[in-house]
Amino acid sequence: MTHTNESIPVGMLTGKVLFITGASRGIGAAAAQLFASQGASVVLAARNTAALDTLVAQIRDEGGTADAVAMDLSDRTSIRAAVDRVEHLHGRLDGAFNNGGVNQQDVGPLDTTSDDDIDEQFAVNFRSHWVAMVSEAALMRRTGGGAIVNTSSIGSRRAVPPLPAYGAMKRALNSLTETAAVTWAPQGIRVNGITPGGTATEMMEEWEAKTPGIIAANNAASPIGRMATALEVAEVAGFLLSNRASAVTGAIVPVDGGAGA
Ligand SMILES: NC(=O)c1ccc[n+]([C@@H]2O[C@H](COP(=O)([O-])OP(=O)(O)OC[C@H]3O[C@@H](n4cnc5c(N)ncnc54)[C@H](OP(=O)(O)O)[C@@H]3O)[C@@H](O)[C@H]2O)c1
Repeated sequence: MTHTNESIPVGMLTGKVLFITGASRGIGAAAAQLFASQGASVVLAARNTAALDTLVAQIRDEGGTADAVAMDLSDRTSIRAAVDRVEHLHGRLDGAFNNGGVNQQDVGPLDTTSDDDIDEQFAVNFRSHWVAMVSEAALMRRTGGGAIVNTSSIGSRRAVPPLPAYGAMKRALNSLTETAAVTWAPQGIRVNGITPGGTATEMMEEWEAKTPGIIAANNAASPIGRMATALEVAEVAGFLLSNRASAVTGAIVPVDGGAGA
C-alpha cells in the first residue's frame, strides 16, 4: 500500500465495498484484514459474531472500515438478509468473496457418508453460493457491476475418496461459477473461483484430528512441501476482486503450491 499523504491510503481495493463470507476465521478472516488494509470497506459474515466483532474492532483500530453481520449459510433467508445489510450500510456492493464453507463431519468412503453430511455439504458448500451470488449480483448491477470470487477447493478437481460429498459440491460450485461468469459478463459482473490446496487453518487442524497424518501427507504431496497460509490464499482473492483482474472472468484459479499440477 502506498500513501498519497498521511491520511489517505491508496490500496489495490481502495473505495470498494466488499462482502466476505466465512470471515470469522481462517482464509476469510485473513481476507478481511488484507482487503481492509488495501482500502476496502468490508462487511464480514459468519455465525460466530463474537469473532467477527473482534475482527471489526481490530480493523477499525487500524483506521479501516468494517462491519459484521450474522449469517448462516445453511439458511437462504439469512444469506439474503446479510446482503440486504450491505445495502443498508453502504447502498452498493463492488465485490463479494463467497468463502464460507464446511468440511465433512465424517470422512469417507462414500458408502458410509451420512444423509446429514450430504445435506449439509449441499446447503453450505453449494446452494449457499447460488443464493448469495444472485443477491450480490442484483446489488452490484445498480452501480454498473462488480466482482465475485467463490472459494472452491483442489478437491473439486479430481476424485476425493476421503471427502466425497465435499469434493462433489465444490465441483458443482465450479460449474456455477463459470455459468454465472458467462451469464453476467454483459452486465459488468466478473465471477471467478479459487481452488486452494491444503491451507493452514482450523479446518485442516480439525481434519488432522479426524485423520491423523493428513497434514504431513498433504505436505509430502505438495511441490512446495507445505500448506499455504490463509493470507497467501486471500491475496489471490484480493487480486481477482481488484481492477487489476478486469479481464479475468470464469477462471478457476489454483492456489495449491502446485499440488494440482
Ligand atoms: N483449509 C484448507 O485446506 C482448504 C482447502 C481448500 C478449500 N478450502 C475452502 O476455503 C474456505 C475457507 O476455509 P478455511 O480453511 O478458512 O476454513 P475454516 O477455518 O473452517 O473457516 C470456515 C469459515 O466458514 C464459516 N462457516 C462454516 N459454516 C458456516 C455456516 N453454516 N454459515 C456461515 N458461515 C459458516 C465459518 O464461520 P462460523 O463457524 O463462524 O459460521 C468460518 O468463518 C472454505 O470454503 C473451504 O472449503 C479450505
